[in-house]
Amino acid sequence: MKVARYDYRSQFERFDEFIAELSQMIANGHYVLSEEVKQFEAAFARYLGCSYIAGVNTGTDALTSALRVLELQPKDEVVTQANTFNATVTAICLAGVTPVLVDADEETFLMNRDQALATMCSKTRVVLPVHLYGKPTPMRELLRECEKQGIELVEDAAQAHGARIDGRRVGTLGVLGCFSFHPSKNLAAAGDGGAVATNRADLHDQLTLLRALGQRGQNEHVTLGCNSKLDAIQARVLSWKLSELDRWNEQRRSVARAYRARLLDVQVKFQAWDEQEEHVFHLFAIRTEQREKLQAHLQASGVDAVVRYPVPIHLQPVFSDRGWRKGQFPVAETLARELLCLPIRPNLTTDEIDYVCDCVRHFFDGRTMNREYSVGKTKGGL
Ligand SMILES: Cc1ncc(COP(=O)(O)O)c(C=O)c1O
Repeated sequence: MKVARYDYRSQFERFDEFIAELSQMIANGHYVLSEEVKQFEAAFARYLGCSYIAGVNTGTDALTSALRVLELQPKDEVVTQANTFNATVTAICLAGVTPVLVDADEETFLMNRDQALATMCSKTRVVLPVHLYGKPTPMRELLRECEKQGIELVEDAAQAHGARIDGRRVGTLGVLGCFSFHPSKNLAAAGDGGAVATNRADLHDQLTLLRALGQRGQNEHVTLGCNSKLDAIQARVLSWKLSELDRWNEQRRSVARAYRARLLDVQVKFQAWDEQEEHVFHLFAIRTEQREKLQAHLQASGVDAVVRYPVPIHLQPVFSDRGWRKGQFPVAETLARELLCLPIRPNLTTDEIDYVCDCVRHFFDGRTMNREYSVGKTKGGL
């Protein structure tokens, strides 16, 4: 049996209808900031419950642009976590400001809140938590402290479309929320895409200027911008999928529940999950000291288990001039060594989940699997 991580074909259930629409769009020739882009931006803002969305090329551009419109100075500091995808910190550097790292939390795998609170100082202009693997970062205390100290909170919600905490969708709790629509994401374009969410008209105005080379009117460039607009075809793909997002996220939660129940007695740890929050399980990570061997065993058994992310930010060669050192963020280093992501997608079948869990169990206790898997029999997830 093979258990794949992605099944793109299944995301376009009415494929022919969709292809017909795309053909029409291509023939129409309206490709740049067209109606399709405006419609998606409005729909995604409605979905998130915020006032504005600016569509851009990538999640990395969303983060860079969000930081740029806050008009930060080179000495200004942005506090984020050592366990994230490279783009979070690259964006801080590209925006010309100084990244300051804090460690991860052992249980949640998110930003260590106490360290973040203790790190905030007069140089801090932004705190940038990452809703990693689709789990919303607890925000109340961070927001309260940011407000007290006049610090902006910007969210990296690249992995958490639709996740909710304290009754609100992530990406709308801070002043700016950044999303990626990379094909691997819960809401995925058929290529690259990104967006910035905000409730502030002035920041949205700046974002729309920035993404279009700072152009206010024809040939009138009023600010140093970049060229980073959400592509019209990608916007159409995203609108098409947006109406399914809540259902898909619920299916991901069902898969996560099934994994946790079936692996309860196996020597692996899970990311903490409070059912009060709406985790959207972009990734399902398990933790074990035998990560490399388990991954090899799963891959050899046809299970596409991957590592996200094996090298924490402070040990990446690109940041070697930042003065960070090995051992400085021990939890991030341990997670980088021990986390392994099992395949998760909305339509993972009961048989596929059973098979993955049996392979994990077999690795730990050597018991053979004597189940019969009816591949493809259980359609449409749990
Ligand atoms: C946490 C995080 N931040 C930022 C990004 C950057 O997004 P993109 O790949 O669209 O530039 C990603 C996605 O890959 C991500 O996972």
